[in-house]
Amino acid sequence: MAVPLFDTRTPLAPLRDELHAKCGEVLDAGRYILGPEVAAFEQELAGYVGTPHVVGVANGTDALVLTLRAMGVGPGDDVIVPSFTFYATAEAVALIGANPVFCDIDPRTFCVTPDTVRAALTTTTRAVVVVHLFGNVAPVAEIEELGVPVLEDAAQALGSRAADGRRAGALATAATFSFFPSKNLGAFGDGGAVATADEALAEAIAMLRFHGSRDKVSFELVGHNSRLDELQAALLRLELPHLDAWCDGRRAAAARYEEAGLGDLVELPEPIGDPAWHLYVIRHERADELAAALAAAGIGCKAYYRVPLHRQTAMRQWSDVELPGTDEAARTHLAIPMSPVLTFEQAAEVVAAARDADLG
Ligand SMILES: Cc1ncc(COP(=O)(O)O)c(C=O)c1O
Repeated sequence: MAVPLFDTRTPLAPLRDELHAKCGEVLDAGRYILGPEVAAFEQELAGYVGTPHVVGVANGTDALVLTLRAMGVGPGDDVIVPSFTFYATAEAVALIGANPVFCDIDPRTFCVTPDTVRAALTTTTRAVVVVHLFGNVAPVAEIEELGVPVLEDAAQALGSRAADGRRAGALATAATFSFFPSKNLGAFGDGGAVATADEALAEAIAMLRFHGSRDKVSFELVGHNSRLDELQAALLRLELPHLDAWCDGRRAAAARYEEAGLGDLVELPEPIGDPAWHLYVIRHERADELAAALAAAGIGCKAYYRVPLHRQTAMRQWSDVELPGTDEAARTHLAIPMSPVLTFEQAAEVVAAARDADLG
Protein backbone atom coordinates (compact mmCIF):
# COMPACT_ATOMS: atom_id res chain seq x y z
CA MET A 1 0.00 0.00 0.00
CA ALA A 2 1.45 3.36 -1.05
CA VAL A 3 1.29 6.12 1.58
CA PRO A 4 1.53 9.75 0.39
CA LEU A 5 3.76 12.28 2.18
CA PHE A 6 0.69 14.43 2.87
CA ASP A 7 -2.98 14.32 2.03
CA THR A 8 -4.81 17.61 1.63
CA ARG A 9 -7.67 16.19 -0.44
CA THR A 10 -9.29 13.69 1.94
CA PRO A 11 -9.88 16.14 4.83
CA LEU A 12 -11.41 18.67 2.41
CA ALA A 13 -13.66 16.19 0.60
CA PRO A 14 -16.62 16.60 3.00
CA LEU A 15 -16.45 20.40 2.46
CA ARG A 16 -16.36 20.20 -1.34
CA ASP A 17 -19.92 21.39 -2.03
CA GLU A 18 -19.71 24.20 0.52
CA LEU A 19 -16.38 25.39 -0.89
CA HIS A 20 -17.69 25.39 -4.46
CA ALA A 21 -20.86 27.25 -3.46
CA LYS A 22 -18.79 29.85 -1.61
CA CYS A 23 -16.63 30.46 -4.69
CA GLY A 24 -19.78 31.27 -6.64
CA GLU A 25 -21.00 33.59 -3.90
CA VAL A 26 -17.76 35.55 -3.79
CA LEU A 27 -17.53 35.83 -7.57
CA ASP A 28 -21.10 37.10 -7.71
CA ALA A 29 -20.63 39.53 -4.82
CA GLY A 30 -18.02 41.41 -6.84
CA ARG A 31 -15.69 42.39 -3.95
CA TYR A 32 -12.32 40.70 -4.49
CA ILE A 33 -9.77 42.68 -2.47
CA LEU A 34 -10.05 43.61 1.24
CA GLY A 35 -13.78 43.11 1.56
CA PRO A 36 -16.05 41.65 4.25
CA GLU A 37 -14.70 38.10 3.98
CA VAL A 38 -11.16 39.23 4.80
CA ALA A 39 -12.39 41.33 7.74
CA ALA A 40 -14.46 38.42 9.09
CA PHE A 41 -11.64 35.92 8.64
CA GLU A 42 -9.24 38.24 10.48
CA GLN A 43 -11.65 38.40 13.44
CA GLU A 44 -12.29 34.67 13.45
CA LEU A 45 -8.61 33.77 13.23
CA ALA A 46 -7.84 36.24 16.03
CA GLY A 47 -10.46 34.44 18.15
CA TYR A 48 -8.95 31.07 17.30
CA VAL A 49 -5.35 32.06 18.02
CA GLY A 50 -6.24 34.12 21.08
CA THR A 51 -4.81 37.46 19.97
CA PRO A 52 -6.71 40.74 19.67
CA HIS A 53 -5.55 41.52 16.12
CA VAL A 54 -4.98 39.62 12.90
CA VAL A 55 -4.04 41.22 9.58
CA GLY A 56 -4.38 39.16 6.40
CA VAL A 57 -1.59 39.47 3.86
CA ALA A 58 -0.60 37.84 0.57
CA ASN A 59 1.60 35.02 1.94
CA GLY A 60 3.71 33.95 4.90
CA THR A 61 6.87 35.50 3.49
CA ASP A 62 5.29 38.94 3.19
CA ALA A 63 3.87 38.47 6.67
CA LEU A 64 7.45 38.24 7.96
CA VAL A 65 8.69 41.19 5.87
CA LEU A 66 5.84 43.51 6.87
CA THR A 67 6.00 42.55 10.55
CA LEU A 68 9.76 43.02 10.79
CA ARG A 69 9.38 46.45 9.16
CA ALA A 70 6.49 47.37 11.46
CA MET A 71 8.64 46.31 14.45
CA GLY A 72 11.16 48.91 13.32
CA VAL A 73 13.77 46.52 11.96
CA GLY A 74 15.71 48.04 9.10
CA PRO A 75 18.98 48.20 7.18
CA GLY A 76 22.04 47.20 9.20
CA ASP A 77 20.10 45.67 12.09
CA ASP A 78 20.85 42.13 13.24
CA VAL A 79 17.98 39.66 13.43
CA ILE A 80 18.58 36.22 14.93
CA VAL A 81 17.04 33.40 12.91
CA PRO A 82 17.54 29.65 12.84
CA SER A 83 19.41 28.21 9.88
CA PHE A 84 17.33 25.02 9.97
CA THR A 85 14.04 26.34 8.56
CA PHE A 86 12.42 27.22 5.26
CA TYR A 87 14.42 29.82 3.33
CA ALA A 88 11.73 32.52 3.65
CA THR A 89 12.49 33.03 7.35
CA ALA A 90 15.97 34.41 6.64
CA GLU A 91 15.10 35.81 3.22
CA ALA A 92 12.57 38.18 4.84
CA VAL A 93 15.33 39.59 7.05
CA ALA A 94 17.73 40.10 4.14
CA LEU A 95 14.97 41.62 1.97
CA ILE A 96 14.62 44.57 4.34
CA GLY A 97 18.37 45.17 4.43
CA ALA A 98 18.92 43.61 7.84
CA ASN A 99 21.44 40.85 8.65
CA PRO A 100 20.26 37.33 9.38
CA VAL A 101 22.37 36.12 12.32
CA PHE A 102 22.04 32.37 12.24
CA CYS A 103 21.59 30.52 15.51
CA ASP A 104 21.60 26.83 16.25
CA ILE A 105 18.74 24.50 17.11
CA ASP A 106 18.27 21.50 19.32
CA PRO A 107 18.16 18.68 16.76
CA ARG A 108 15.85 16.67 19.03
CA THR A 109 13.09 19.31 18.80
CA PHE A 110 14.22 21.12 15.59
CA CYS A 111 13.65 24.43 17.44
CA VAL A 112 15.88 27.22 18.71
CA THR A 113 16.55 27.31 22.46
CA PRO A 114 17.30 30.15 24.91
CA ASP A 115 20.96 29.04 24.87
CA THR A 116 21.32 29.00 21.08
CA VAL A 117 19.67 32.42 20.83
CA ARG A 118 21.82 33.84 23.65
CA ALA A 119 24.95 32.64 21.86
CA ALA A 120 23.95 34.61 18.76
CA LEU A 121 23.10 37.93 20.48
CA THR A 122 25.04 40.98 19.28
CA THR A 123 25.00 44.62 20.34
CA THR A 124 22.84 45.39 17.30
CA THR A 125 20.30 42.55 17.66
CA ARG A 126 16.88 44.11 17.02
CA ALA A 127 14.71 41.00 16.99
CA VAL A 128 14.65 37.22 17.16
CA VAL A 129 12.56 35.17 14.76
CA VAL A 130 11.73 31.86 16.39
CA VAL A 131 10.33 29.21 14.08
CA HIS A 132 7.83 26.67 15.35
CA LEU A 133 9.33 24.19 12.95
CA PHE A 134 7.25 21.25 11.74
CA GLY A 135 4.56 22.37 14.22
CA ASN A 136 6.73 22.02 17.33
CA VAL A 137 6.51 25.02 19.67
CA ALA A 138 9.78 26.87 20.30
CA PRO A 139 10.24 28.10 23.91
CA VAL A 140 9.14 31.70 23.35
CA ALA A 141 8.72 32.82 26.99
CA GLU A 142 12.29 31.82 27.91
CA ILE A 143 13.68 33.50 24.80
CA GLU A 144 11.73 36.70 25.53
CA GLU A 145 13.53 36.82 28.89
CA LEU A 146 16.72 37.59 26.95
CA GLY A 147 15.23 41.07 26.44
CA VAL A 148 14.93 41.20 22.65
CA PRO A 149 11.56 41.40 20.80
CA VAL A 150 10.47 38.01 19.51
CA LEU A 151 8.57 37.29 16.32
CA GLU A 152 7.06 33.81 15.96
CA ASP A 153 7.28 32.32 12.48
CA ALA A 154 4.23 30.11 12.99
CA ALA A 155 3.83 29.25 9.29
CA GLN A 156 3.95 25.55 10.14
CA ALA A 157 2.27 25.64 13.54
CA LEU A 158 -1.31 26.88 13.35
CA GLY A 159 -3.21 24.78 15.89
CA SER A 160 -0.18 23.88 18.05
CA ARG A 161 -0.22 24.80 21.71
CA ALA A 162 2.54 25.72 24.16
CA ALA A 163 2.81 23.78 27.44
CA ASP A 164 0.70 26.45 29.21
CA GLY A 165 -2.16 25.91 26.75
CA ARG A 166 -1.72 29.11 24.73
CA ARG A 167 -1.67 28.71 21.00
CA ALA A 168 1.41 29.12 18.86
CA GLY A 169 0.93 32.59 17.42
CA ALA A 170 -0.20 34.12 20.72
CA LEU A 171 3.12 33.82 22.53
CA ALA A 172 5.29 36.76 21.42
CA THR A 173 5.20 40.36 20.15
CA ALA A 174 3.76 39.12 16.87
CA ALA A 175 3.39 35.94 14.86
CA THR A 176 3.17 35.14 11.17
CA PHE A 177 1.20 32.42 9.41
CA SER A 178 1.17 30.93 5.92
CA PHE A 179 -1.89 29.44 4.27
CA PHE A 180 0.12 27.75 1.51
CA PRO A 181 -2.14 24.87 0.40
CA SER A 182 -0.25 22.12 2.25
CA LYS A 183 -0.19 23.98 5.59
CA ASN A 184 -2.34 23.00 8.59
CA LEU A 185 -4.90 25.55 7.36
CA GLY A 186 -4.41 25.64 3.61
CA ALA A 187 -5.84 28.08 1.08
CA PHE A 188 -6.37 27.41 -2.63
CA GLY A 189 -3.45 29.58 -3.58
CA ASP A 190 -1.18 31.82 -1.51
CA GLY A 191 -2.22 33.52 1.70
CA GLY A 192 -0.75 34.67 4.99
CA ALA A 193 -1.52 36.58 8.18
CA VAL A 194 0.02 38.34 11.15
CA ALA A 195 -1.33 38.00 14.69
CA THR A 196 -0.45 40.45 17.45
CA ALA A 197 -1.73 41.91 20.69
CA ASP A 198 -0.14 45.27 19.80
CA GLU A 199 -2.72 47.55 18.18
CA ALA A 200 -0.17 50.00 16.81
CA LEU A 201 1.79 47.16 15.25
CA ALA A 202 -1.38 45.75 13.65
CA GLU A 203 -2.21 49.20 12.24
CA ALA A 204 1.27 49.60 10.81
CA ILE A 205 1.07 46.19 9.14
CA ALA A 206 -2.38 46.98 7.73
CA MET A 207 -0.90 50.17 6.28
CA LEU A 208 2.16 48.44 4.89
CA ARG A 209 0.03 45.83 3.10
CA PHE A 210 -1.69 48.64 1.17
CA HIS A 211 1.21 50.77 -0.11
CA GLY A 212 1.73 52.48 3.25
CA SER A 213 -1.72 54.08 3.18
CA ARG A 214 -4.62 54.15 5.64
CA ASP A 215 -7.15 55.68 3.28
CA LYS A 216 -5.86 54.65 -0.17
CA VAL A 217 -5.30 58.29 -1.20
CA SER A 218 -2.58 59.55 1.15
CA PHE A 219 0.66 57.58 1.53
CA GLU A 220 2.60 57.77 4.81
CA LEU A 221 5.10 54.98 4.14
CA VAL A 222 6.72 53.25 1.22
CA GLY A 223 4.76 50.03 1.54
CA HIS A 224 3.83 46.90 -0.33
CA ASN A 225 0.94 45.45 -2.26
CA SER A 226 0.32 42.41 -0.09
CA ARG A 227 -3.30 41.55 0.54
CA LEU A 228 -5.06 38.33 1.38
CA ASP A 229 -7.75 38.18 -1.25
CA GLU A 230 -11.44 37.88 -0.63
CA LEU A 231 -11.87 34.47 -2.24
CA GLN A 232 -9.10 32.87 -0.17
CA ALA A 233 -10.43 34.45 3.02
CA ALA A 234 -13.95 33.16 2.30
CA LEU A 235 -12.68 29.62 1.77
CA LEU A 236 -10.39 29.76 4.82
CA ARG A 237 -13.44 30.82 6.90
CA LEU A 238 -15.18 27.61 5.90
CA GLU A 239 -12.14 25.55 6.88
CA LEU A 240 -11.31 27.22 10.19
CA PRO A 241 -14.06 25.49 12.25
CA HIS A 242 -12.53 22.16 11.20
CA LEU A 243 -8.96 23.05 12.06
CA ASP A 244 -8.98 21.68 15.62
CA ALA A 245 -10.29 18.31 14.45
CA TRP A 246 -7.62 18.21 11.72
CA CYS A 247 -4.95 19.07 14.29
CA ASP A 248 -6.21 16.28 16.55
CA GLY A 249 -5.89 13.98 13.53
CA ARG A 250 -2.26 15.03 13.17
CA ARG A 251 -1.63 14.30 16.86
CA ALA A 252 -3.34 10.93 16.51
CA ALA A 253 -1.14 10.12 13.49
CA ALA A 254 1.99 10.77 15.58
CA ALA A 255 0.59 8.54 18.33
CA ARG A 256 -0.06 5.79 15.75
CA TYR A 257 3.58 5.88 14.64
CA GLU A 258 4.67 5.45 18.27
CA GLU A 259 2.18 2.65 18.80
CA ALA A 260 3.43 0.88 15.65
CA GLY A 261 6.98 0.90 17.07
CA LEU A 262 8.63 3.58 14.94
CA GLY A 263 10.65 4.75 17.94
CA ASP A 264 12.59 1.46 17.93
CA LEU A 265 13.90 2.20 14.42
CA VAL A 266 14.51 5.95 14.23
CA GLU A 267 14.74 9.05 16.47
CA LEU A 268 11.24 10.48 16.87
CA PRO A 269 10.79 14.27 17.14
CA GLU A 270 10.68 15.44 20.74
CA PRO A 271 7.47 17.45 21.23
CA ILE A 272 7.43 20.78 23.08
CA GLY A 273 3.97 21.58 24.40
CA ASP A 274 1.24 20.04 22.28
CA PRO A 275 2.29 20.28 18.63
CA ALA A 276 -0.16 19.82 15.75
CA TRP A 277 2.56 18.24 13.59
CA HIS A 278 2.60 19.92 10.18
CA LEU A 279 5.34 17.54 9.07
CA TYR A 280 6.42 14.44 10.94
CA VAL A 281 10.18 14.47 10.81
CA ILE A 282 12.32 11.68 12.17
CA ARG A 283 16.11 11.40 12.33
CA HIS A 284 18.36 8.57 11.26
CA GLU A 285 22.12 8.38 10.71
CA ARG A 286 21.49 6.80 7.31
CA ALA A 287 18.58 9.05 6.34
CA ASP A 288 19.21 9.00 2.58
CA GLU A 289 19.36 5.21 2.51
CA LEU A 290 16.16 5.11 4.55
CA ALA A 291 14.54 7.56 2.12
CA ALA A 292 15.50 5.38 -0.83
CA ALA A 293 14.08 2.26 0.84
CA LEU A 294 10.83 4.03 1.79
CA ALA A 295 10.44 5.47 -1.71
CA ALA A 296 10.97 2.01 -3.21
CA ALA A 297 8.15 0.75 -0.96
CA GLY A 298 5.82 3.55 -2.15
CA ILE A 299 6.13 5.60 1.04
CA GLY A 300 6.26 9.37 0.49
CA CYS A 301 9.22 10.97 2.27
CA LYS A 302 11.36 14.06 1.85
CA ALA A 303 14.44 15.72 3.34
CA TYR A 304 13.24 19.33 3.39
CA TYR A 305 16.35 21.13 4.58
CA ARG A 306 19.38 18.95 3.74
CA VAL A 307 21.35 22.18 3.04
CA PRO A 308 20.69 24.57 5.94
CA LEU A 309 20.34 28.28 5.24
CA HIS A 310 23.81 29.34 6.39
CA ARG A 311 25.21 27.08 3.66
CA GLN A 312 22.97 28.45 0.89
CA THR A 313 24.63 30.57 -1.82
CA ALA A 314 22.41 33.60 -1.29
CA MET A 315 23.29 33.67 2.42
CA ARG A 316 27.06 33.40 1.96
CA GLN A 317 27.85 36.74 3.56
CA TRP A 318 26.27 35.45 6.80
CA SER A 319 27.70 31.95 6.62
CA ASP A 320 30.59 32.31 9.07
CA VAL A 321 28.98 30.38 11.94
CA GLU A 322 29.39 26.98 13.54
CA LEU A 323 26.01 25.31 14.06
CA PRO A 324 26.54 21.68 15.05
CA GLY A 325 22.90 20.98 16.00
CA THR A 326 21.76 22.40 12.68
CA ASP A 327 24.27 20.35 10.72
CA GLU A 328 23.21 17.20 12.55
CA ALA A 329 19.50 17.82 11.89
CA ALA A 330 20.20 18.74 8.26
CA ARG A 331 22.12 15.51 7.71
CA THR A 332 19.78 13.11 9.53
CA HIS A 333 16.21 14.42 9.13
CA LEU A 334 13.53 12.89 6.98
CA ALA A 335 9.83 13.80 6.76
CA ILE A 336 7.53 10.81 6.56
CA PRO A 337 3.78 10.77 5.82
CA MET A 338 1.66 13.05 8.01
CA SER A 339 -1.91 14.23 7.58
CA PRO A 340 -5.07 14.67 9.65
CA VAL A 341 -6.34 11.37 8.24
CA LEU A 342 -3.33 9.06 8.50
CA THR A 343 -4.69 5.68 9.58
CA PHE A 344 -3.10 3.10 11.84
CA GLU A 345 -2.74 0.81 8.79
CA GLN A 346 -0.84 3.53 6.93
CA ALA A 347 1.38 4.21 9.95
CA ALA A 348 2.04 0.47 10.29
CA GLU A 349 2.92 0.29 6.59
CA VAL A 350 5.48 3.09 6.99
CA VAL A 351 6.97 1.40 10.06
CA ALA A 352 7.13 -1.96 8.26
CA ALA A 353 8.95 -0.37 5.33
CA ALA A 354 11.42 1.28 7.73
CA ARG A 355 11.96 -2.05 9.47
CA ASP A 356 12.47 -3.84 6.15
CA ALA A 357 15.12 -1.27 5.23
CA ASP A 358 17.16 -2.96 7.99
CA LEU A 359 19.50 -0.02 8.55
CA GLY A 360 20.16 -0.61 12.23
C1 LIG B 1 8.77 28.25 8.36
C2 LIG B 1 8.19 28.99 7.19
N1 LIG B 1 8.32 30.33 7.14
C3 LIG B 1 7.80 31.03 6.12
C4 LIG B 1 7.12 30.42 5.09
C5 LIG B 1 6.66 31.24 3.95
O1 LIG B 1 5.29 31.16 3.70
P1 LIG B 1 4.72 31.40 2.23
O2 LIG B 1 5.07 30.23 1.39
O3 LIG B 1 3.24 31.53 2.45
O4 LIG B 1 5.31 32.68 1.73
C6 LIG B 1 6.95 29.03 5.12
C7 LIG B 1 6.17 28.30 4.12
O5 LIG B 1 6.32 28.06 3.04
C8 LIG B 1 7.52 28.30 6.17
O6 LIG B 1 7.41 26.97 6.23
